[in-house]
Amino acid sequence: MALVGCGSALPAARVSNTDLSQRVDTSDDWIRSRTGIAARRVASAAEPLTLLASQAAEAALAHAGWEAADLDLILLATSSPDDLFGTAPRIQAAIGASGAVAFDLTAACSGFLFALITAGQYIASGAVRRALVIGADQLSRWVDWDDRRTCVLFGDGAAAVAVEAAAPGTTDLLGFRMRSDGSRNACLTLAQTTETEPLLGDLEAQKGGFAPIQMNGQEVYKFAVREVPQILAELLEHTGTDPGALDWLLLHQANQRILDAVAERFSMPGERVLSNLAHYGNTSAATIPLMLDEAVKDGRVQPGHLLASSGFGAGLSWGAALLRWSGPQG
Ligand code: ACO
Repeated sequence: MALVGCGSALPAARVSNTDLSQRVDTSDDWIRSRTGIAARRVASAAEPLTLLASQAAEAALAHAGWEAADLDLILLATSSPDDLFGTAPRIQAAIGASGAVAFDLTAACSGFLFALITAGQYIASGAVRRALVIGADQLSRWVDWDDRRTCVLFGDGAAAVAVEAAAPGTTDLLGFRMRSDGSRNACLTLAQTTETEPLLGDLEAQKGGFAPIQMNGQEVYKFAVREVPQILAELLEHTGTDPGALDWLLLHQANQRILDAVAERFSMPGERVLSNLAHYGNTSAATIPLMLDEAVKDGRVQPGHLLASSGFGAGLSWGAALLRWSGPQG
């Protein structure tokens, strides 16, 4: 599999920490010092997930120099679909990729990495030649805007990466690891509500709905600073990679303190740890491709660069991948 294009799209509205402090009892200083976040984007009703994800998909297609008709697969990583039956087919229609099979994959903030690895398997098997892997979320729909412990953390965004079959014997997915631990699921949930409505006689039906995001922040923090360095260390050992050979650490953007702790474990200088948390907060499945797109477009990530990436979050789920960025071909 070769990584050959990327693109992203963001909602127009920017909400700063100071803006938020007019809604909940918080401050710019508290949010910045605990998380590194300064602002986030919040989608309007005119910016559904399908629209932002389709814009990101089109930008990635243009960057790769592809037509929508070239696509065999569209994988959408999201926890906030426009349609619980699947939003990827709406994106397929919006961009005109009629030859591609399109489906959603949900693994919260690990979703993009899990989807990229999944696409890599379809490509490795020969079933798929060209795919778009999209990470898109609008958790603003699912936060309790009166809960200062969670609402300050999240933002909305979408980004996509174009991947294709690489020359025989080569790959940009140099190794990966994936893990889940459902016994710790309660640490971070966007769970179905259990409202009932009378159906027939004594029989009641469950009415669909979801409760706002619930999070035990300290447990999630401890989970991240323990598991992410461990899974990255396993990955580097498995692939025989010296941390000094890495050009970039490309981690899920949840908290600057988590990024710093992981970087310290591998003695990575801060300037080689990609971070855009300050501008966008935690955009869940979108953070990794959004960060990659920014760093590719501003020239930090160059063709041939080696990146160690890790996604982690609800599930609990976490994973790591060693990636090479090839960039557009020809
Ligand atoms: N503004 C001001 N005060 C606040 C805020 C806020 N926004 N939020 C909490 N506080 C207060 C608390 O009420 C508490 O006050 P008290 O001591 O009087 O009770 C105090 O600040 C400290 O609260 P803690 O929860 O102990 O703060 P902590 O230092 O743990 O930081 C944080 C909280 C930032 C959430 C941290 O735990 C964290 O980053 N956890 C990881 C979260 C994460 O990454 N989640 C996403 C995972 S990815 C996914 O899959 C979605």
